Amino acid sequence: MKILWLLLPLLLWSEENPTESFISDYEYGEMLYNNPRGVSCAECHGTSGEGKTIIQYQDIHGKEELRGSDIRKKSLMEMIRAVNSYHKVMPRYYLSDDEVKMIYNYLQKKNKHYLK
Ligand code: HEC
Repeated sequence: MKILWLLLPLLLWSEENPTESFISDYEYGEMLYNNPRGVSCAECHGTSGEGKTIIQYQDIHGKEELRGSDIRKKSLMEMIRAVNSYHKVMPRYYLSDDEVKMIYNYLQKKNKHYLK
């Protein structure tokens, strides 16, 4: 029971600040991009969405590579569509539109110099 009294100020504090979050939207977007309840977007699209080589292999056509595309210039709608559909390589995710928007905003902000 004592522990409740210790927690009470914390609970009250968070009640008083319903819009104040512990992490910023940028940090939340970063977290979702790197850990979107599934394979990290960064594994295939690079740390900032610039794209990267997923795997290189040799076949009858010679050296081939599988690349995650550059998604820095994709619109929010394209991103929502991509995340919610099935692809050959990219997994389907179960993220809300708000969560995809967080990822989108994170990439926009992180790449603001490139996108200028
Ligand atoms: C296993 C690798 C992989 C992961 C993980 C991955 N993607 Fe992709 N993604 C791809 C590949 C490859 C493409 C190219 C098109 C395709 O495969 O259909 C792509 C395409 C896209 C596109 C472009 C679609 C279009 O309209 O051209 C967007 C946007 C995108 N991914 C966003 C994301 C986001 C956001 C995440 C994390 C929630 C993610 N991807 C995770 C591999 C991946």
